[in-house]
Amino acid sequence: MRQAKRSLTSTANPMHCENLVMVIIRIKNLCHRFENGHWGLKNINLDVAVGEFVVLAGANGSGKTTLLRHLNGLLLPTDGSVTVDGKEVQNNILQVRQMVGMVFQNADSQIVGETVYDDVAFGPENLGWPREEIVKKVTTSLQQVDLAHLQHQRPHLLSGGEKRRLAIAGILVMNPKIIALDEPFSNLDYNGVKQVLQSIIGLHEMGHTIILATHDLEKVVAHADRLIFIDKGQIARDGAPEMIIKESEAYGVREPCASRLGERLSSWLN
Ligand SMILES: Nc1ncnc2c1ncn2[C@@H]1O[C@H](COP(=O)(O)OP(=O)(O)O)[C@@H](O)[C@H]1O
Ligand SMILES: [Mg+2]
Repeated sequence: MRQAKRSLTSTANPMHCENLVMVIIRIKNLCHRFENGHWGLKNINLDVAVGEFVVLAGANGSGKTTLLRHLNGLLLPTDGSVTVDGKEVQNNILQVRQMVGMVFQNADSQIVGETVYDDVAFGPENLGWPREEIVKKVTTSLQQVDLAHLQHQRPHLLSGGEKRRLAIAGILVMNPKIIALDEPFSNLDYNGVKQVLQSIIGLHEMGHTIILATHDLEKVVAHADRLIFIDKGQIARDGAPEMIIKESEAYGVREPCASRLGERLSSWLN
């Protein structure tokens, strides 16, 4: 397990913190009001460092998905700003979408190809990449999520865990710096969770910045550098997992068993 890094605080320099960690996501005073008048997010301030593994936890309806959707411009701020790698999202949507890969909660909605291979090749083909480049990158992406042996399979025949790994491969092929995953373990069995978790850990080790939203900390928190509780559209707590995990239930999130027993957070892969 990686050591937790220092959480970031805002500084004068837009790209650096006092400890010289590069900031890749900067969210300032972000508010989002839906058309029906509901405030989904209220004054979110957040810096994420390059390579950080951030778990965003909160009860259903707390605002996790709404926050993730601001990272690649699927939603735009009612107030405040979201900056990715120095580019304000709302003015640079296409560039930002190449930097932020989003794995949606419903993996089926992301399937576009007739075969596993075609599905992953879809993005690069649309961008007109050279054929050898496509073959190379698609093959590598499938290997990274351990799906290379299923490349000729029809996506709809895959298991839940395989579909989610396919969705990950489909964004990985575009080599995004940031990978945002919305409830990546929902509806998966034990093996499915372990395989998806293994893939996510692999992405982190390769240097991708990971933002993972979940209401279920048990499966992933041992691998996170940083834990953020979101509650009623606001950041309620932000810190090293071992420092704040005991507060989980105040935010409608189940405290992991190990923590309840006073033990160190342990990986689901062990
Ligand atoms: N399109 C929408 N219109 C109005 N309210 C919405 C919309 N999408 C989400 N909400 C509301 O915003 C809040 C946050 O939702 P969401 O971000 O989906 O929460 P979470 O992902 O944490 O479960 C909820 O109260 C939800 O009902
Ligand atoms: Mg959600």
